[in-house]
Amino acid sequence: MRPKAELHLHIEGTLEPELVVELARRNRIELPTYDVEAIRARYSFANLQSFLDVYYENLAVLRAEQDFYDLAAAYLRRAAAQGVRHAEIFFDPQAHLSRGVPLDVVFGGLSAALKDGPLSAALILCFLRDRGPEEAEQVLRAALPYREHFIGVGLDSAEVGHPPSLFRRVFEIAGGEGLHRVAHAGEEGGPDYVWEALDVLRVERVDHGIRAMEDPQLVARLREERIPLTVCPLSNVRLRVVPSLRDHILPAMLDEGLLVTVNSDDPAYFGGYVEDNYAALRRELGLSEEQLDAIARNSFEASFAYEG
Ligand code: HPA
Ligand code: ZN
Repeated sequence: MRPKAELHLHIEGTLEPELVVELARRNRIELPTYDVEAIRARYSFANLQSFLDVYYENLAVLRAEQDFYDLAAAYLRRAAAQGVRHAEIFFDPQAHLSRGVPLDVVFGGLSAALKDGPLSAALILCFLRDRGPEEAEQVLRAALPYREHFIGVGLDSAEVGHPPSLFRRVFEIAGGEGLHRVAHAGEEGGPDYVWEALDVLRVERVDHGIRAMEDPQLVARLREERIPLTVCPLSNVRLRVVPSLRDHILPAMLDEGLLVTVNSDDPAYFGGYVEDNYAALRRELGLSEEQLDAIARNSFEASFAYEG
C-alpha cells in the first residue's frame, strides 16, 4: 500500500452504520431502524445538503467520551490499513455542543484515540459555516483552553450562501493563536469562494477547490503559490458535484501543475476510504501508478507536519 497522508477527513463522517447501531444500543438511543443495511440504503444523496441532513442526524448516538474514542480509533485502524501514515482530522464541535455534549467529552475521546493510534494524527476544529460567524467565534474561544489538542481551524457544512468572507474575524483570531487555517471552498460554491478563502481567511490549503478550475487566474495563483487542494473524488460523485468519476477534473488539475491531494472526506457515507479513492482514479480515469505516487508525495508536502 503506497504511504500517504490524509488531509481531508471528517471524523464524524467515519461513523459506519455498524457503529451507529452499537452506540445507539450502548446509549439507549432510539433509531428508526437497527438494520445496518437499511441505514446504508439511505445513503443516496441529491446534493451536499441532503447528505448533511443524514450526517447530523446520525450524530445523536455519540454521547460519551468512550464513543468519540471508539469512533476515532476505528478510523485510525482503517486508515493505517489503507497506507495512511499521517492524518489531519476535522471535527465539528458545534454539532456536539448543540446536542448538549460538552467540549471536554469531545476533546477527551478524540485526543486519547489519536494518542493511542497506529499513525501520526492531529485535529483541525471546523466551524459550521451555516451557523454564522458569531457562533464560530464563541466556539473558538470555548476551545482555546484545549489549544494543545488541535493544530488548526477549518470551515465546513453548507457552502453556498455562507461565503468565507463572513468569517474574517474568527480566522484572524485563530491565526493570532498560531493555528493553521483551511476552508472548504469551491465544492458547490464558485471560484469567488476560493478567492475569498485565500485573500480574506488567509488559508494555507483549500478543501475541495475543484471549481477553482473555472478561473484561469485563480489556477495560476494556486500553482504559483503551491497552495494544496484536498480533492475528494468519491465524495464529489456521491454529492453530485460531478456527474461521474470519468468526468472528474482531477487529471486536468494535475496537468495544470496544481498541488493536488486525494482524500476520503466522509468515507462511511461515500463508498470508500482513501486508498479506495486512489484505486477508483486508476480504474475509472486511468491514472498511472506514477501519477498516484506523485499525489501521495503531494499529500506529505501539503501536510502541516511537512518540514521541507
Ligand atoms: N462538505 C462540507 N461540509 C462537510 C462535508 C463536506 O463534504 N462533510 C462533512 N461536513
Ligand atoms: Zn469535507
